[in-house]
Order: sequence, then structure tokens, then C-alpha cells
Amino acid sequence: MAAYEANGGYNSLKTNIGQRTPAECLEIIKDSNLRGRGGAGFPTGMKWSFVPMDNATPGHKYLICNADEMEPGTFKDRLLMECDPHQLIEGMILSAYTLQADIAYIFIRAEYHKAIGLLREAITACHEKGYLGDNILGSGFSLEMHVHVSAGRYICGEETALISSLEGKRANPRAKPPFPQVSGLWGRPTIVNNVETLCNIHHILEFGADWFQALGKGEDAGTKLYGVSGRVKNPGCWELPIGTSIREIIEDHAGGMEDGYSLRGFLPGGGSTDFLTPEHLDLAMDYGTIGKAGSRMGTGTMIVLDDKTCPIGFIHNLTSFFARESCGFCTPCRDGLPWSAQVLESLENGDGRPEDLETLAYQIDYIGAIGNTHCALAPGAMEPVQSALKYFREDFEAHINEGCCPYERSASGGAV
Ligand code: NAI
Repeated sequence: MAAYEANGGYNSLKTNIGQRTPAECLEIIKDSNLRGRGGAGFPTGMKWSFVPMDNATPGHKYLICNADEMEPGTFKDRLLMECDPHQLIEGMILSAYTLQADIAYIFIRAEYHKAIGLLREAITACHEKGYLGDNILGSGFSLEMHVHVSAGRYICGEETALISSLEGKRANPRAKPPFPQVSGLWGRPTIVNNVETLCNIHHILEFGADWFQALGKGEDAGTKLYGVSGRVKNPGCWELPIGTSIREIIEDHAGGMEDGYSLRGFLPGGGSTDFLTPEHLDLAMDYGTIGKAGSRMGTGTMIVLDDKTCPIGFIHNLTSFFARESCGFCTPCRDGLPWSAQVLESLENGDGRPEDLETLAYQIDYIGAIGNTHCALAPGAMEPVQSALKYFREDFEAHINEGCCPYERSASGGAV
């Protein structure tokens, strides 16, 4: 608390709470063009504007911080919470004030032991300072905040599954609409935002929408935490202007490929995005540009595929993970993903047949189509598979023709 305050921490709280109206705060967030950093990039101000503000029906309104970070290759929110827990809490208090939510939860994955402890300590320190609890800083606004440790499934990070889990039910996603903004936790208006999104809020309210817009390099506003994992010299996570080029992220910040390895492709935003290849290196890492290139910026944390790792092993590993994490509610996901993993396993081992590629293409069309499944888990899981078939088709054929895996390393690790 002392270090955070010495660096200007909680200034934004003091200058906004009770000083600006919630409606004024909302206008600033809308004008800032902040987009959700959990992966979907939905405009935050627009999402908040769907929350009824007339208070016609008495009852609670909820703010939930989604800290259930389980996207493969993604570790940005952990760093934010471990290195600066008060930044998240200050952002949440001002978000709750803007939304007039009176109860806030941090829904966090169980493996994040260090962050769980730090956040609990930080919440206690905020109560002692009068930043949380009743009548915060004499503003008349009250907020209680709880850390809720997740039951530990990937699907718990999907906002409606998260809400089911928080209510003590099985973590099945719910049909949308109604969106949580109008009917969420216990049927009440609820906003679910990612950690990184919430960490931006008090900075925007302190320094203004124009300041935030100017931080970005292209169409999008602000900064972004970008990560790189795989065979690079310096895997890690960096805060950079949103719209920084992929080349700068991989070659400068991650130090380029390890000696003896070259870049074959990369998943730009975690395990549920489509592969891009070296020809895409000069693209800007922003939502629009990566979308036009046929993938998604997702969480902004790239997983790099090198030339000595089997691409089929790589996607077999991911598909096995998604198959295990299916909630089992709908058939295409529950039965389709293990089937895809099985086909990929036999292809990787050299036991595949030419017709397996048709089976895989059928699975991509069927399981990968939004609308055939209850939520986006299975379509997301099929993104690396469909783009691997597009960019690395000769590898599939080589495995079938040679009857073995021609690579020195498999990324699957026999994970099924
Ligand atoms: P989504 O696009 O359905 O929703 C994103 C947000 O916008 C939600 O809060 C939703 O309520 C809101 N929204 C969307 N359309 C709306 C509308 N018409 N009216 C009102 N609100 C609306 O995306 P979803 O399924 O919530 O998230 C998918 C993303 O999550 C993927 O891009 C993936 O990369 C990312 N992801 C991130 C993980 C992580 O660990 N950070 C884990 C898994 C997935």
C-alpha cells in the first residue's frame, strides 16, 4: 500500500469517487475506446452502458473480475496481480462506482496462490484506509469485495459459466441473450471484465480519454500486455502500445528465435486462435489487423512454432487440452473434440490414412461452426487445427506417406 500510494496510487479514486457522477465516468470510459483485454475485444464502455442505471428494481448489482486465466500460453493477468494487486483493486472500485455495483468478486484460478494471498492482503489494507467497505471516503458509495477461488476448469473463464460456478452450480455456459449486463449473477445486472481491462480504468479516469487514445499506435487505444512463449531467446511479457508490430514483439522484445531454430508460425493470441506465418510479421498486433489476416488477437500472448517441432504434435497437444476441458453439455464439443484429438494422435504417430484429412476437414466444418455448439470453446479449439491444415498441409501428408513423424521433437508429450 505504501509503495503504491507513493507512486500516485489511489489518487484516481480520491479525485473521482463522489467528485464525478457515475454517468460522467461512463462517458469517459466510452470515449476512451478501451476494448476488453480478455480476448474478445468488445468495447468496454458499450458493455457497461447496457447495465440498467435507473435502479427501478431494488437489489444488488455485481462486478466480477475474471482472473481465471487458463488460455494456453497466457500469463499476463498473473503478472498484473502478482506485481501490482492494488492497481487491479483501484480499477475495480472505480468500475463498481461507475456501474453503481455494490458487490465485487475476483474470480481467480486456484493455481495462482501468490496472487490470491496478495489480493486478500490488499483488500484488507483497503478496508483499513477506507477505500473499501461502507461510505468509501465519505462519498456515500459502499462496496464489498471478495476473492473467489475457481473450481479449476477452463470453461469457468467463460463469463456465464463463471456465473454458474459462482452460484454453486456446475460450470455450464448459459445461452446469451440475456447477457449478464441485464441478467447475470443471481439474475441481477452483472459486469464481467478481464483483469487487464480493469487495470486500465482508474488511469483513464485520472488522465482522460484523449491521453488513453494517444497511447495506441493505430486504430485501437491504450497499451497491451503482449507475451511470447516457445523457442525464442527471451520468452516473456511486455506492456507496449497497442498496435506494435509482431516483428518488434518477437524479434526485439523476445530476442528472436533461439540459435538453430527458425520461425515456422505462431498463434497470435493464445491456443484458441488461428496460426499466422512469417509473412505476417510486419502486421500490427491490434484487433482489426489480426482479424483481417484471418486470425484473432485474442489474449495477445503468442505461442511460437519453430521448424524443429512437429506442427501436428503441437495441435494434438492443444486439442487434447480443449477436449479435456469441455464441460460436456453439448455433443459436438463433448464427443467431437476427443475424436479430433484421436485423429491427430494417429496422424502424429504415422498411423494416419489419407482419408483422415477429410475427417479432420469435416470436424473443422462441424465442430468449428459457431451455432453448432453451446458456446465458443469447441469453435475456438478448432482454430489452430484449421489453420494448421491450411499452412502446414505438407506435414500431414509427409506423416501419412512416411508412416512416422519426421520431426525431432513432438509437442504433444503423449498428452491424451
Ligand atoms: P464474446 O464476444 O461472446 O463476448 C465478449 C464480451 O462482450 C462479453 O462480456 C459479452 O457479454 C459482451 N458482448 C458480446 N456481444 C454482446 C452483445 N450483443 N450485447 C451485449 N454484450 C455483448 O466472447 P467470449 O465468448 O466472452 O470470449 C471469447 C474470448 O475469450 C476469445 O477471444 C478468447 O481468446 C478469450 N479467452 C480468454 C481466456 C483467458 O484465459 N484470458 C480463456 C478463454 C478464452
